[in-house]
Amino acid sequence: MAAFLQTNIRLNSIKIVPGRYSALTDHQFRAAYRIRCAAASPGKKRYNIALLPGDGIGPEVISVAKNVLQKAGSLEGLEFDFQEMPVGGAALDLVGVPMPEETFTAAKQSDAILLGAIGGYKWDKNEKHLRPEMALFYLRRDLKVFANLRPATVLPQLVDASTLKKEVAEGVDMMIVRELTGGIYFGEPRGIKINENGEEVGISTEIYAAHEIDRIARVAFETARKRRGKLCSVDKANVLDASILWRKRVTALASEYPDVELSHMYVDNAAMQLIRDPKQFDTIVTNNIFGDILSDEASMITGSIGMLPSASLGESGPGLFEPIHGSAPDIAGQDKANPLATILSAAMLLKYGLGEEKAAKRIEDAVVDALNKGFRTGDIYSPGNKLVGCKEMGEEVLKSVESKVPATV
Ligand SMILES: NC(=O)c1ccc[n+]([C@@H]2O[C@H](COP(=O)([O-])OP(=O)(O)OC[C@H]3O[C@@H](n4cnc5c(N)ncnc54)[C@H](O)[C@@H]3O)[C@@H](O)[C@H]2O)c1
Repeated sequence: MAAFLQTNIRLNSIKIVPGRYSALTDHQFRAAYRIRCAAASPGKKRYNIALLPGDGIGPEVISVAKNVLQKAGSLEGLEFDFQEMPVGGAALDLVGVPMPEETFTAAKQSDAILLGAIGGYKWDKNEKHLRPEMALFYLRRDLKVFANLRPATVLPQLVDASTLKKEVAEGVDMMIVRELTGGIYFGEPRGIKINENGEEVGISTEIYAAHEIDRIARVAFETARKRRGKLCSVDKANVLDASILWRKRVTALASEYPDVELSHMYVDNAAMQLIRDPKQFDTIVTNNIFGDILSDEASMITGSIGMLPSASLGESGPGLFEPIHGSAPDIAGQDKANPLATILSAAMLLKYGLGEEKAAKRIEDAVVDALNKGFRTGDIYSPGNKLVGCKEMGEEVLKSVESKVPATV
């Protein structure tokens, strides 16, 4: 159990400030929540990692991924200084806000952030600013992590877990680059208002500035360049003005990347093509809302949402690494969660957050090795394999990390 859940701070004595601020003194907070490991040994590279387990299955998958990260790092001469901090519903229960200022500060000052998941039935009726999910909104916005990289790969070992026919699913290997800090989730005006007829109206605004499109498009072109050199930009330029500008800016940038083949697709067609022929995609770039939906759709092709990691990166500062799944309250606390999405998020943390590709490869290889040995959590189980829980899957990956020869990248 995370140390921050063992605190004996009396919640009723804490003044709650709306938003992401708690009224604990810095001293109280440090004493209650921080877990620091020993100082780094001489000659080793050392990184500060903020661990935000969150809610539901979050603490279960983070605890497993932390061990794997630590082991893979140590085999490559890396040491980690972990700081575990409350976020989401866990933070609401402890200090009354979903994103305590102290958690944000620790995240901001770290080299990279590994997050579990946020949310649960318990807080579903909270006012909007006191919902656990607001923590994610604040984190992404305030860390300015505008580029969300979501790989969707069908591993040969899991092709039978896909809901698509084997011949459609096998070989799928795509990267969805989603814009994360703009568009309709953040656009103004927004809110529920009363119109001139006295009727309630809900307003959300899809808005993109040219620089926001350019910077995510550049990330996507660079990503495609390192993959198979194909980039598909997904929009709704036949209807939405923001999409018309999106298409214009992405097209204009293409001349800087002559080695990347650019195509455009309307989002309704893209949703269809992902199911019809997903192998046609290499890299997809799209806005915040379309990326949210399409990446969940793509996750089903791979067999389970429990397999998919993600990275959120900004122009500077730490990246945020997390599985794409939620807190899965239906299986929380039952040791049933698949930890592989979080373990693979730790690999992305090493690769994209710290530039430690060898340690990342150790983790990726170990996940494949554990799957090759037939270990499966319930969500990816098929007859003939060995059904294991979250902890055992973590132990098997750990064994594979230890036993594999050093990775070459
Ligand atoms: N990034 C996040 O933290 C995030 C993302 C999505 C949803 N949420 C929140 O999570 C809560 C539950 O949302 P939901 O049910 O729509 O989505 P979910 O991803 O939590 O669960 C959807 C289904 O997938 C299963 N599942 C998810 N992750 C799994 C894993 N690792 N292993 C095995 N099975 C797994 C769940 O058991 C459930 O049946 C809500 O409060 C929601 O707001 C958080």
